[in-house]
Amino acid sequence: MTEQALAGRTAIVTGASRGIGRVTALALAGAGADVALAARDTDALDRVRAEAEKLGVRAVATRTDVTRSEDVRAMVADTVAELGRVDILVNNSGVVSSTELLETTDAEWDRVLDTNLRGTFLATREVGRHLVAQGSGKVINMASNFAFKGIPGHAAYSASKAAVVAFTRSMALEWARHGVQVNALAPGYVATDLNADVRADPDALNRILRGVPARRMGRADELAPWIVLLASPASDFMTGETIVIDGGQAAR
Ligand SMILES: NC(=O)c1ccc[n+]([C@@H]2O[C@H](COP(=O)([O-])OP(=O)(O)OC[C@H]3O[C@@H](n4cnc5c(N)ncnc54)[C@H](OP(=O)(O)O)[C@@H]3O)[C@@H](O)[C@H]2O)c1
Repeated sequence: MTEQALAGRTAIVTGASRGIGRVTALALAGAGADVALAARDTDALDRVRAEAEKLGVRAVATRTDVTRSEDVRAMVADTVAELGRVDILVNNSGVVSSTELLETTDAEWDRVLDTNLRGTFLATREVGRHLVAQGSGKVINMASNFAFKGIPGHAAYSASKAAVVAFTRSMALEWARHGVQVNALAPGYVATDLNADVRADPDALNRILRGVPARRMGRADELAPWIVLLASPASDFMTGETIVIDGGQAAR
């Protein structure tokens, strides 16, 4: 892949204010894509926008709650108005919940499913209108290796991510004939704010790392090159797939 494999393309990244989304947005910008950054924390988004602009691309930041269809509609409209087009969508916004089912409230279940699954649906539908009309595009969904495992205390999160994998396959089939590829990534543990509580607890961290053959958490910059690949023409014949990047957990 050439260094500027995404020159002339525009990518929307949800959850770009921090963590995997921030690193992904900067990697897409580093590959030449103009980037639209979406999340709720506007100060953090503005900092990422400035970082992206330093890489020589155009960048916009739009306050977006991905669970609200009016926010998502406005964010996609802003992107097209300001950057002229949209070619790539990374559905990365996500939240985790660590409560056993009997303690899981309706509100907690909805928060997880609405962010991880409904948010993916809303953004894919809105961006998809443009991708299908132009006959090309890439949707990259952030699943998790929890989609494939039973994890006590994580039923809502695991169910949301398994649904994202199924959604990825269905959308790949709906849009294959329109030249739009839909793929997903299923990371294992990656050190971000999402698991800051676990990393702050040495016993919990050791317990987790015993289950990871690489004996460490991954870094966001170890996922970003795969997202750039899935956003580039190198993956034009690949659709409906979920790539697992988990330090060897799935090989067990
Ligand atoms: N870290 C891991 O170990 C791991 C493993 C597998 C999969 N993943 C997945 O990777 C993705 C990114 O996670 P991360 O580790 O980078 O977590 P993170 O550091 O906590 O970042 C989560 C991002 O999601 C955004 N977000 C949350 N709720 C939102 C909402 N309602 N509307 C818009 N944006 C929202 C946050 O932005 P605002 O708060 O500014 O809105 C933030 O940018 C998630 O989908 C997560 O499930 C993570």
